[in-house]
Amino acid sequence: MANKSVWSDNRFWQRSATWVTGFASVLLIWLTFDTSVQIAMGNDEDLKNGVTKRVPGPTVINYKITYEMDAKRGHEVPVIGEKENFFGRDDWSEEEAGALLHLGKLGSQAKNCMDCHTLLGNGAYYAPDLTKAWLDPAWGPNGAMQALTAKETKEEAMAEFLQHPDRYPTHARMMPDLGITAKEAKGLVAFLKHMSSIDTNGFPRNFGHMQGAINGK
Ligand code: HEC
Repeated sequence: MANKSVWSDNRFWQRSATWVTGFASVLLIWLTFDTSVQIAMGNDEDLKNGVTKRVPGPTVINYKITYEMDAKRGHEVPVIGEKENFFGRDDWSEEEAGALLHLGKLGSQAKNCMDCHTLLGNGAYYAPDLTKAWLDPAWGPNGAMQALTAKETKEEAMAEFLQHPDRYPTHARMMPDLGITAKEAKGLVAFLKHMSSIDTNGFPRNFGHMQGAINGK
């Protein structure tokens, strides 16, 4: 018994397991609280006072969002700029904007966008990543989608596309007509705009520009 190695001692392994489990539990609890603070949604006051939140409040749909390189962090970050119209208004209240986002979120679940797309890291890669789809230049004034859909704003072009994706093929894979109504499309576009304003630490890298459309000005 005198020379029994510590590695074959049962109690050594029991103690190790207890310590490792205990340490991991404390770490997980701490990380959970830390994350909760980081991802707590901001509100309209923050936006009015220029307070940056990782997840801005729903009324971020009243503002212009751009994606800019942050040299210090080494990746692009969403930047919330001046007021801009969203479906003709820049004064969506917290309740109205919240209701629109809610409608969009339900729509995205009902129509299962994740079957083909990825949202905030969840989903598939059959179709472009939607996390930053709102920032895809294809929908901007110099992109092809406003002209293709005969709409004069980004949000109207995107809503039109969502209702009739099969009418605007971009010579890449085609999105099927999912029977999305005008009301649902409005909610979905708000949902996508809000999602693009979330600071995701630069994820996804080189977010999926709409294949084809971007080159087909
Ligand atoms: C059956 C697969 C499929 C489903 C389900 C689907 N899509 Fe798509 N979607 C596509 C494909 C494929 C494209 C690329 C179309 C193209 O390039 O012409 C696309 C393109 C898009 C784009 C343009 C992307 C960009 O970067 O500009 C948006 C926005 C979009 N889809 C939103 C949605 C939303 C919102 C839902 C759920 C309500 C959804 N899609 C469900 C296949 C799908």
